Amino acid sequence: MPHDSTATPPDALEQAARLRAEIARHNHAYYVLDNPTIPDAEYDRLFRELQTLEQAHPELITSDSPTQRVGGAPLPQFEQVRHSAPMLSINNGFSDDDIVNFDRRVREGLKLETAVEYNCELKFDGLAINLRYEHGLLVQAATRGDGTTGENVTANIRTVRAIPLRLQMDNPPAIIDIRGEVLMFKGDFARLNARQREAGQREFANPRNAAAGSLRQLDPRITAQRSLRFFAYGIGVLEGAALPESHAALLDWYAQIGIPVAAERRAAQGAEGLLTFYRDIGLRRAQLPYEIDGVVYKVNRVAQQAQLGFVSRAPRFALAHKFPAEEAMTIVQDIGVQVGRTGALTPVARLAPVLVGGVTVTNATLHNEDEVRRKDIQIGDTVIVRRAGDVIPEVVSFVPELRPADARPFVMPALCPVCSSPIVRPEDEAVARCSGGWVKCPAQRKGGLLHFVSRRAMDVEGLGDQLVEQLVDRSVVTTAADLYRLGLTSLASLDRMADKSAGNVIKAIQKSKSTTLARFIYALGIRHVGESTAKELARHFGGIDALLKADEAQLLDVADVGPVVARSILQFLADPMNVELIEQLRANGVHWEEGASEARPKPLAGLTFVLTGTLPTLSRDEAAERIEGAGGKVAGSVSKKTSYLVAGDDAGSKLAKAETLGVPVIDEAALLEMLHQTKESEA
Ligand code: IVH
Repeated sequence: MPHDSTATPPDALEQAARLRAEIARHNHAYYVLDNPTIPDAEYDRLFRELQTLEQAHPELITSDSPTQRVGGAPLPQFEQVRHSAPMLSINNGFSDDDIVNFDRRVREGLKLETAVEYNCELKFDGLAINLRYEHGLLVQAATRGDGTTGENVTANIRTVRAIPLRLQMDNPPAIIDIRGEVLMFKGDFARLNARQREAGQREFANPRNAAAGSLRQLDPRITAQRSLRFFAYGIGVLEGAALPESHAALLDWYAQIGIPVAAERRAAQGAEGLLTFYRDIGLRRAQLPYEIDGVVYKVNRVAQQAQLGFVSRAPRFALAHKFPAEEAMTIVQDIGVQVGRTGALTPVARLAPVLVGGVTVTNATLHNEDEVRRKDIQIGDTVIVRRAGDVIPEVVSFVPELRPADARPFVMPALCPVCSSPIVRPEDEAVARCSGGWVKCPAQRKGGLLHFVSRRAMDVEGLGDQLVEQLVDRSVVTTAADLYRLGLTSLASLDRMADKSAGNVIKAIQKSKSTTLARFIYALGIRHVGESTAKELARHFGGIDALLKADEAQLLDVADVGPVVARSILQFLADPMNVELIEQLRANGVHWEEGASEARPKPLAGLTFVLTGTLPTLSRDEAAERIEGAGGKVAGSVSKKTSYLVAGDDAGSKLAKAETLGVPVIDEAALLEMLHQTKESEA
């Protein structure tokens, strides 16, 4: 009997299957549950183990092996794919009326008097894709194209780790077309553009362009280097399985079989329910890790969807409720500079007024001199302006075809436009600065004061831009210490200041005297010392005097503090005027609880809390501050590592997630109880 020396040992076969399943499970945890289960290094180790095994036994390689995601030779061109069921578009609505009318048409179509049940989801700003799985294996991926015919991008889609190569289920359907959106997360987009910039390559205008550019690559190795994501929202052909009865159930099913679906989806009744969802998402839009351009409403019951049918190329059962456009085109009339609290000069485009995302914009930041050069923005150019959430509007790019012959490039001034001190720009920095410091430069005084009173610093309510402007211009206030000497009469004499509001400002200033060391340090506005560094400094030194005496080595002992930060702190404290300011603030009554906080008991040490919903008495910030003060940590999202979810009214997806993961949920009273125990043990 011939001896087959190349036969695969059964344990290698088993080992490969085990590794594949394990890697797929971690991918699922990471991309679908948003809850990483192992560190990256451990993932890489498993991956390499599988690679080694497959190299030794190439006959073990299967098409769904995670090692088969990368690479593939470049294609000469994309093959055309005819969709088995057309990929439709969707009608848009913009106003409340549009939504009310949509709901009315749906009820008329269904001959219903009662409220219709909808499923609300997000309108992802990426590109539509059809994923075909046969017997559980990913066999083809195609772009939408014209809706009837798209491009075969299977090789590229296989590199997207968020998309499973095999469905996680026992009896997969013979054929299923899963539809959804490929997109790039904001963080990955920023990292990609930073890389492009370093490599001297073209940057992408927005995450959608970056996602499209990354997917429509003839060389899949390039796609493999880009972090793409996917969220499912629909279905095409389905053979060999029963279609779920509702859209919500379809999405739940997807999540179960390993297909990523966004957590932000909700059932709603009638037009009121739809509008509530729209407003809620509008408020949270900026915090989402990816871009959306609206929300989508779909009649939930599949039978009702079928009853409603289609008009031309869009279903009657669905509507996209779009957010007002966040990008608009306008003309740069001039480029000025703004002087910030550290003297940093920011070039600002003065624009012909334009409506962006529902707000009139006349100024947009150009960030710094190098950005202006890189984007080649000139005075007279027609530009694209973007405004996202509550961030400052920015100039994205100019339209080359519309550049006038007399366009003029921007020149950084040699002297500060506010105080005429020379402008300096250290060779290794991107930022040019006014050398006047706050003593000479009123713009820096204003910026410094606004930072000092800001919510996360000393939190003086009611002391805004216009008041600070007047206080500085009339030399009523020079340093932050002067604020605590302000009298009612000097305040009430300012423009637009009634006695009552002057009284309120004085009260707010007085109230701010009682603060925390961390807030105080942050309020000083030391360059490179942000909120979290200030907290670390406060935690480490426990008191301001210890910080004042610290040398470089001691500063470097603080978590978060590296050489640049340490040098900046030393430089700040070496200036006698800054030390004097700290003394005066204390002399004027600014105080906090001192004592090496390290030494204090920390009953919440080692516990991680997540906050959600509206708490009855504490604001989110207050709750976070109290938890951190007691040694606990506050995280932004629920994971297995969360110790407690503190839930208030209108808690949303975090609550659901905590329940799924078995994370204990407590209310504010229970939190206060835990904090109260802190107080007692301190006494
Ligand atoms: S449903 C039958 N749902 O918007 C309706 N589309 O014009 C088919 N999109 O190109 C589309 N998020 O790529 C649907 N949650 C969502 C969506 C969504 C984004 C895109 C989709 C399509 C366009 C619809």
